[in-house]
Amino acid sequence: MSFIEFKDVRKDYQMGEVCIHALYGVSFSIEEGEFVIIAGASGAGKSTILNLLGGMDTVSSGTIRVGDKIVSDFDSKQLTLYRRDDVGFVFQFYNLIQNLTVRENVELAAQISKSPLDITGTLKSVGLLDRENNFPSQISGGEQQRVAIARAIAKNPRLLLCDEPTGALDYQTGKQVLEVLQNICKKEKTTVVVITHNLALTPIGDKIIRVRSGKIESITRNEHPMSAREIEY
Ligand SMILES: Nc1ncnc2c1ncn2[C@@H]1O[C@H](COP(=O)(O)OP(=O)(O)OP(=O)(O)O)[C@@H](O)[C@H]1O
Ligand SMILES: [Mg+2]
Repeated sequence: MSFIEFKDVRKDYQMGEVCIHALYGVSFSIEEGEFVIIAGASGAGKSTILNLLGGMDTVSSGTIRVGDKIVSDFDSKQLTLYRRDDVGFVFQFYNLIQNLTVRENVELAAQISKSPLDITGTLKSVGLLDRENNFPSQISGGEQQRVAIARAIAKNPRLLLCDEPTGALDYQTGKQVLEVLQNICKKEKTTVVVITHNLALTPIGDKIIRVRSGKIESITRNEHPMSAREIEY
């Protein structure tokens, strides 16, 4: 049995008179510890998939299972616990708390977890221990994104979800951030799902799920994924 399963998931958004079919019968599975890339054009439904998987939105129909949890059946209280205990989320624009230091941002996230990782070790793993007492405004965009990753993994989640984590970064910095994500996946056996609209990133994934107009276009596997350091885009 796979770790994660989407079965015929549909998501409609009612906008006044108009009904938008954001997802139109999406099915896929993800193994534990897999590094998954979700790729597709703007508006394809990538964020919708990630938000449903992360318990931040609810399906119109279909089933989402994560481990032994049927997330699509959860009420809002169960979803809160699921988001808190099982999911780490990294957004495109970091979303750090500006008046807390790097360390405090990560500590805050760890505090809400049942089994948090050691803060010093987590900061070290993203290469930011020497910046722990700086405020977000005092570090670069790539460093801020690495704080956001540290914050997400400090909770020790089984599932790390990243929505365009390199979207606001330059080329080299983006590669460093992808490397950090790949390392976490390998070392901690965390299941990592990364959204991108950049097809040049697909060689680094164990599995690539291509989404188009609310449907799965293809699902492919790389037998020998490249390291983020090796790719050019
Ligand atoms: N809260 C919402 N209310 C109404 N429509 C929405 C909502 N969220 C998404 N949609 C619509 O659902 C479709 C899929 O959106 P989604 O955000 O998943 O796309 P995406 O692939 O992440 O695009 P992008 O690369 O631009 O972020 C789009 O047509 C979008 O306008
Ligand atoms: Mg999106």
